[in-house]
Amino acid sequence: MTGAAGQAGTEPAPALRARYGHGNVLASDLKPPVPELEPYVQLDCTDPAALGRVAAAHGANTFYHLAAILSARAEQQPLQAYQVNMTGLINVLELARERRAALFTPSSIAAFGPDTPREPATPQDTIQRPTSMYGVTKVAGELLADYYHQRFGVDTRGVRYPGLISYVAPPGGGTTDYAVDIFYHALREGEYTCFLGEGTQLDMMYMPDAIRGTIELMEADAGQLRHRNAFNIAAMQFTPAQLAAAIRKHLPEFRLHYRVDPMRQAIADSWPRRLDDSAAREEWGWAPRYDLPALVADMLEKLGEKLAVTVKGGADAAR
Ligand code: NAD
Ligand code: SER
Repeated sequence: MTGAAGQAGTEPAPALRARYGHGNVLASDLKPPVPELEPYVQLDCTDPAALGRVAAAHGANTFYHLAAILSARAEQQPLQAYQVNMTGLINVLELARERRAALFTPSSIAAFGPDTPREPATPQDTIQRPTSMYGVTKVAGELLADYYHQRFGVDTRGVRYPGLISYVAPPGGGTTDYAVDIFYHALREGEYTCFLGEGTQLDMMYMPDAIRGTIELMEADAGQLRHRNAFNIAAMQFTPAQLAAAIRKHLPEFRLHYRVDPMRQAIADSWPRRLDDSAAREEWGWAPRYDLPALVADMLEKLGEKLAVTVKGGADAAR
């Protein structure tokens, strides 16, 4: 696994180890060794020789390629984002081809743009003209993953993750990060200043659903997959105001303020409001388990434990 020390990599590594054996999943990231993620190797995915050495030394037969620069950071460092997101991916695709290995690589709601149909939901196959560097790399990544399957028979698979919400590792510089930050601030300070406007609706997903979906897709019968890469998957859609209202059911004093960041607002405004995930449902049985109330109850409980903050009444308070 590359990018294993990021928000979306930290939790799947243990989940995959529980399933396939602890020693059978090697975590890697650009970051220095992370003891909790052992076995772990510091590895730059833009270095094909280093990738090849590590893959050969460990007999890699499946890659989970999660290393990337996310949307907001990518706008600040577009060339760096291009380098990591594109060179990193082509390196891993080549390695998967050479080793006849399987490859999971996630795309994103960012792969869509302002011309993409929005209502009633953004279709699986539709116009993709993103306006952010991150989105450009995600569309190109989807096409490359399809190409390596069609041209070389590599078992590439992937989903378009919505904004991911989790309490184990912090988010790494995306536009949906507010939906994680808000929980930390709600528990610690009782208030939060959001960088997106109150009516900005986006697709979101709780990390346990994202991990389960990833594993289910990788284990799906290949014969059932008409699409292979870039499956729309969805769980819930909300605005900052709606998320705050759900948090207030547990923390009635919680206050949400707004100071809109024009750059991240423009990115969010170019993304879908709701994904149509019927292809994933039909082809490999995708179904989310967490809706907004379930997400908020679990986040406040688990993050409260982590931060040693007690939420009065816990999940029961919302009922
Ligand atoms: P993150 O920023 O939290 O983590 C990315 C990791 O990649 C970091 O740990 C970073 O150190 C590592 N990395 C950066 N450059 C590297 C390099 N050259 N070599 C090796 N590692 C490098 O991001 P994330 O949320 O964990 O995202 C993982 C994947 O999921 C990405 O492909 C992202 O596009 C996708 N995704 C995430 C979300 C989300 O909401 N988190 C939503 C949609 C898609
Ligand atoms: N959560 C990601 C971001 O905001 C979407 O891919 O960048």
